[in-house]
Amino acid sequence: MRTALAVGADGDAPMPFSSAEIEAGRKLFAADWQFVAAAGTLERLPPMRGVEIAFAGRSNVGKSSLINALTGRKALARTSHTPGRTQELIFFQATPALALVDMPGYGYAEAPKAKVAAWTALIHDYLAGRANLARVYVLIDARHGLKDADADVLKTLGVAAVSYQIVLTKADQVKPAELEKKISETAAVIQKRAAAFPEIIVTSSREGSGLPEFRAAIARLLKERA
Ligand code: GTP
Ligand code: MG
Repeated sequence: MRTALAVGADGDAPMPFSSAEIEAGRKLFAADWQFVAAAGTLERLPPMRGVEIAFAGRSNVGKSSLINALTGRKALARTSHTPGRTQELIFFQATPALALVDMPGYGYAEAPKAKVAAWTALIHDYLAGRANLARVYVLIDARHGLKDADADVLKTLGVAAVSYQIVLTKADQVKPAELEKKISETAAVIQKRAAAFPEIIVTSSREGSGLPEFRAAIARLLKERA
């Protein structure tokens, strides 16, 4: 299976990272990441410190697992087989310069209506209104591709002009040919959207594929914003 995992919209060569950038990513994520805050409402958001990058996506897509895999911590973020595990915005930091934000999932139809409405409002308000939000990683299950539930979030990010990038998750669950198909289908949709980063990152938190490049991408972003 392909492991270098960011592919251009036209399916060209993987996004290049120098070995120094890969090392910078490794170092950034080898630091001591800790839980710093949880916010179930906008009023409870922690003060803005450094830049924030958020992990958004449908319930159960693997947001919390990806944060654990990137940081090399088994249980920093709470994960679960059943959707609806993460119910607040969860902030992690290892340095004041950067916070990783684990978000509640959207598109989870089985949860009580009032809860879904509250999560949805929180997700959209945070994504549209957080001044230090540098990039949003929108996670998409590689088996399923983009779904209707993703459209609202992409729209919110587009209207708010927040830069975002698509991350295909659970790449270990699809055959290489199917993965290529999902990458090009997703890239075709994203190409039309101005706020979207053209490359798609492909990961498996279970097998670790795509993680060194993803860490390097975040280190590069941090360097650009510093
Ligand atoms: P919510 O917080 O409920 O929105 O879910 P989430 O997006 O945070 O998903 P979570 O990380 O809790 O993972 C959901 C399920 O997917 C768990 O059973 C994980 O073990 C599984 N999972 C996550 N990443 C991968 C992966 O890369 N490969 C495979 N095969 N399973 C994964
Ligand atoms: Mg979660």
